[in-house]
Amino acid sequence: MFASGGVEVAEVAEPKVLEPTDAVVEVSLSAICGSDLHLLDGKTPGMREGGVIGHEFVGHVVAAGAHAGAHPEGTRVVGSFLIVCGACVPCRERRFNHCTERRALGLGTLTGDLDGAQAERVRVPVADVNLTALTDAFAEILDEQAIFCGDVLATGIYAAHLAEGGPGDTVVVIGAGPVGLLCAASVRALGARAIVLDADPHRVEFARERMDLEALDVSEADAGEAIAEATGGAMAAATIEAVGHVSAFRSAMRTTANGGRVVIVGVYGSERYELPMGMAWIRGLDLRFSGMANVQAHWIEALTQVASGAIEPDATITHRMPLDEAVEGYRLFAAREAMKVILTPS
Ligand SMILES: NC(=O)c1ccc[n+]([C@@H]2O[C@H](COP(=O)([O-])OP(=O)(O)OC[C@H]3O[C@@H](n4cnc5c(N)ncnc54)[C@H](O)[C@@H]3O)[C@@H](O)[C@H]2O)c1
Ligand SMILES: [Zn+2]
Ligand SMILES: [Zn+2]
Repeated sequence: MFASGGVEVAEVAEPKVLEPTDAVVEVSLSAICGSDLHLLDGKTPGMREGGVIGHEFVGHVVAAGAHAGAHPEGTRVVGSFLIVCGACVPCRERRFNHCTERRALGLGTLTGDLDGAQAERVRVPVADVNLTALTDAFAEILDEQAIFCGDVLATGIYAAHLAEGGPGDTVVVIGAGPVGLLCAASVRALGARAIVLDADPHRVEFARERMDLEALDVSEADAGEAIAEATGGAMAAATIEAVGHVSAFRSAMRTTANGGRVVIVGVYGSERYELPMGMAWIRGLDLRFSGMANVQAHWIEALTQVASGAIEPDATITHRMPLDEAVEGYRLFAAREAMKVILTPS
């Protein structure tokens, strides 16, 4: 949980069904995400003292409200970080990330103050929409794979669709963190060439060795020049910015061909940037801010890609530890000594 600006492992109140559409899930695995760090570094303000962090989880339903019928007790499920109502106009148009009652799990008071999933149990509102069952075609998917489908891999697939890369296209991904790696894997699954750029040589090596991705180190090189060289001057049909820093956004504009798409997946808070309007206009850059990932529109596709073996998100996991050792997990993750940390409640 969140305590004194950091994290702490402590006893908290048992989550209960509060609304008839709620379910309580017994968590078998949770994980630490880059977005959790934003609660600690102040980029995402509003975490309550004692609030439970965590929005990536797999588990079993142990209690379901009277109107949470889609996933009865005992169902193995993966949860979405994005919590939606399922009934408003954007939800009915499957633009769940623009739900008029949008919330997020374990990400603070600005997104509904819902207690999160780095815990033994978690309450999930509107469970029919915000959980998906790991049954039938998805029954064989391991917990360590499924957990990615409620956040990072669903984000990757959403970003790959926003990038609209197909066969013959090059799509650049800036940032080789878990999000960037799974954006690149999703781009490749949709048939385009994916090139990942990172300023950390260890992350570039990880992308190559563990994810079998084409990856370039831009710690010394200019991103635009690196992509000009890699594409014979053609540049990228689209670039996905999976960092959340203005420096990466500027790189993304440089790696993209005229008329191409810049997809901004990295999270922004109060940063400011003066856009050279004439440059963006004459180049016809199509700037696409992702907002929160549209998980519920893409998680079945994510699970299907995993079930077929086309994407192996668990290759990003570097550390597995008991939930009791979460403080050490956060330390490793914040120091970039870990790529993805998985936590198991004891
Ligand atoms: N839109 C969404 O719904 C959504 C969902 C999940 C995560 N995110 C966001 O995506 C971003 C990435 O998440 P992550 O967990 O992979 O983060 P991460 O911090 O693990 O990875 C970021 C990577 O970017 C690299 N980097 C930083 N600046 C760079 C630059 N200028 N050029 C090239 N590389 C650079 C770093 O070396 C690092 O490897 C975060 O902002 C996270 O909050 C957004
Ligand atoms: Zn996340
Ligand atoms: Zn809605």
